[in-house]
Amino acid sequence: MIMTKVEELTNPALFADEDRLHKLFTALRKDTPVCRVEPEEYRPFWAVTRYETIKDIELDNEQFLSNPRSILRPTEVEQAALKAFGTVNALEMLVNMDGERHKKMRRIGQNWFSPKNISNLRGNVEQLAKTMVNQMASLGSECDFAADIAMYYPLRVLMATLGIPDEDEAFILKLTQQLFGGEDEDMARTDGEETGAATRNEVLRDFHTYFGKLIEEKRANPKDDLATVIATAEVDGEAISHLEAISYYVLTATAGHDTTSHTLAGGMRALIENPDQLRLLQDNPDLIPAAVDEMLRWVTPVKSFVRTAKDDCEVEGVKIKAGESLALYYPSANRDESIFDEPFTFDVTRKPNRHLAFGFGPHVCLGMHLAKMELVSFFQELLPRLDSIELAGEPQVAKAIFVTGLKKLPIKFTMS
Ligand code: HEM
Repeated sequence: MIMTKVEELTNPALFADEDRLHKLFTALRKDTPVCRVEPEEYRPFWAVTRYETIKDIELDNEQFLSNPRSILRPTEVEQAALKAFGTVNALEMLVNMDGERHKKMRRIGQNWFSPKNISNLRGNVEQLAKTMVNQMASLGSECDFAADIAMYYPLRVLMATLGIPDEDEAFILKLTQQLFGGEDEDMARTDGEETGAATRNEVLRDFHTYFGKLIEEKRANPKDDLATVIATAEVDGEAISHLEAISYYVLTATAGHDTTSHTLAGGMRALIENPDQLRLLQDNPDLIPAAVDEMLRWVTPVKSFVRTAKDDCEVEGVKIKAGESLALYYPSANRDESIFDEPFTFDVTRKPNRHLAFGFGPHVCLGMHLAKMELVSFFQELLPRLDSIELAGEPQVAKAIFVTGLKKLPIKFTMS
């Protein structure tokens, strides 16, 4: 029965139906933790669903490579990217680099994203959190929390971090949504006749054009921002390539945006649906950092990354041939009953909470400290001002297989 369903792992609608998705993951973890998937429109892959196995694969980046295929994309999209950009990945991003080049390229952003440097941004982030919470208050007693608040706040933080002008906010927001949420009818590009692969490449071309200009601007007028760090970065005494610099921007602008928005909206929903946890948090604000980790575990907005076996090997007794790919399902790892007590309970006091929402090992999320700071700052600002909150309609998750979360969260609230 599982074998017939598993092909649905490439169906965006499955990821919008979280109960069904988690039932599938639970069954896979139990019976077929390394399961062959042969969908029609994708190259085959192995679905890996247990926590420890995912961690082991992530740690062994020499044997399990990121480069040849870092995320699941339809074969048609990969072929179109190969034709248009010379690589199935379309961009030269950290997430699809391996070995020394990856280490050196990662180092460019590592200092910037270190907890110490990020703590210098705290004042700005807290100010932005306050602005967003004020905006929520100004909306009266009802809003769509996902679309009106959660979608914009991380974007504002990113714009400030990268040094991108405020007036470009709407443009970057739209492109990011088109890149990640492309399968969802509400988020796909609708300004042209073409759909699918061609459209996705158009979105990438728009990113190329925008960030190409930004590089020139930052080289001419260096500032104290991440965009300048990338524009002027060198590896082994040589400037990084134009494609590598553009890819760094695209990765930062996209990786840091929908992921955090989805966690914020999904975390809010979890608090509404678990009023005892909301009360606990309001009475004990010191629990907010732990609650944010629980939100990350609960929502896990990045559904998978892919690794490719360098040599023939065995994973949990299953023979994997060189060149075959393995999709690492983080939402499944984060509900693994052998690691988490009562994994389907949302518990803001959970300890320890070693979730894999940010991945693990050499590719672990570079922006994790920034993301956590944003989420903590928002709830620290909102919770003392919130008197009541409830759902005002059915929440809706966007249909996408890579990064997804709530696109609609209608709420009613009272706040000061
Ligand atoms: C990588 C999740 C926010 C930048 C990743 C990975 C995951 C992830 C799962 C891949 C890890 C792996 O392969 O082991 C998340 C989540 C976020 C978030 C859940 C928010 C809730 C951010 C932010 C930024 C960012 C705010 C930057 C502004 C990156 C970068 C990488 C990455 C640059 C690539 C690292 C590498 O390949 O070496 N993230 N991320 N992320 N993330 Fe995040």
